[in-house]
Amino acid sequence: MILALETSCDETAAAIVGKDDGGVCVLSSVVSSQIALHAPFGGVVPNLAAREHVRNIVPVIESALREASASKDDIEAIAVTAGPGLMPALQIGVTAAKTLSYLWKKPLLGIHHIEGHIYANFISSEQLVSRSQQRKEHKSPSNYSLPTTRSSSLFPLLALVVSGGHTELVLMRNHFDYEILGETEDDAVGEAFDKVAKMLGLPYPGGPEIAKRAELFGNVEWGMLNKEPTPNSETKYIKTHSPFSIHHSTFSFPRPLLDSHDYRFSFSGLKTSVLYFLKKNEEKKRDEHFINAVCYEFQEAALDVLIEKTRRATLEYRPRTVIIAGGVSANVELRTRMSDMITRDFPDTSFLMPPFRYSLDNAGMIGAAALFRWEKMTAEDKQKASTDWQTLSADPNMNLGD
Ligand code: KG4
Ligand code: ZN
Repeated sequence: MILALETSCDETAAAIVGKDDGGVCVLSSVVSSQIALHAPFGGVVPNLAAREHVRNIVPVIESALREASASKDDIEAIAVTAGPGLMPALQIGVTAAKTLSYLWKKPLLGIHHIEGHIYANFISSEQLVSRSQQRKEHKSPSNYSLPTTRSSSLFPLLALVVSGGHTELVLMRNHFDYEILGETEDDAVGEAFDKVAKMLGLPYPGGPEIAKRAELFGNVEWGMLNKEPTPNSETKYIKTHSPFSIHHSTFSFPRPLLDSHDYRFSFSGLKTSVLYFLKKNEEKKRDEHFINAVCYEFQEAALDVLIEKTRRATLEYRPRTVIIAGGVSANVELRTRMSDMITRDFPDTSFLMPPFRYSLDNAGMIGAAALFRWEKMTAEDKQKASTDWQTLSADPNMNLGD
């Protein structure tokens, strides 16, 4: 079992993970969210986040151990997010992990936050439920089989990484081997969701709120109530002519760098065009349906770019597996459209996405990455890791693969 910690931003998280039938099994995953604390500021305040991590880290670790019915003797190694992230926040997790590594005499592994998001895809959704929950819900473990470190059939693997700090397409030819094909030139896509939400006066964090409103608008506009049976009795969606549908048909936002023939992204221009559009339509800013329409059109523009660039990279590199990773991978529309695109255009390619609760920041994903690393380590590497508490330091600008 590995005890994993994550404090890179505004979630204090600890998890216990282990191997089960060759796959990653999360035995417990505790996340203490600071959303309510930062909401009045419209974003994460680094020093406030650090103060909360200090307050929460020990209780969160204790809960994770308790929920997994584990003690320090069951723990083989300790893993922690070493970067990237907010320096004051990262330091709390790193310091806690170093202290436990020293006191408990356990090897220490510093994990890249995005590596964690990528490896969240290798957690079995059927086995996530912590033992205590399993007992409560009387769930029996399923036979779902997981990719293992030996599963070379996963590679090459293409990962679309979409979070509050990152937007990039990463090609992996093997475990821990990362080639960044392209990344954002300015804002990350999650950041754009959050900023657009702020412009619309929606609560922080903006991503889930925009997604919810976009779905609401889509359902109304595309006539969930106006389903017409087609001859083969499949559902056909027809557009309604509600007094508001004019919004839908008369505006749309740009798809930045869609035709750049490379894998660069840019979301700052999209955000600015939403800003100008809102300035031009001041009088409608309190109209709920108008706000939902803006959410819908913004999300459409952002997702079109993400899906099309992933499609082109899949065409060029012919990966065996495509995955999505990072907080924006919780977006249902992205999950559905990406899955549809891969199934339709690349029937021989597998598509994986993280289980919902492991899409957003958590420590289970850090434990998953650490477990795969641990399996690859030699006795000598493990010996070295047992003294890494002396040297490991948080690195807010850590590069993937460091
Ligand atoms: O990975 P994450 O939890 O933290 C970072 O590593 O940045 O990602 C957080 C980001 C935020 O920008 C949040 O608005 C976005 O993920 N997000 C979403 C959704 N849920 C979270 N964006 C779009 N749709 C969602 N459903
Ligand atoms: Zn993250």
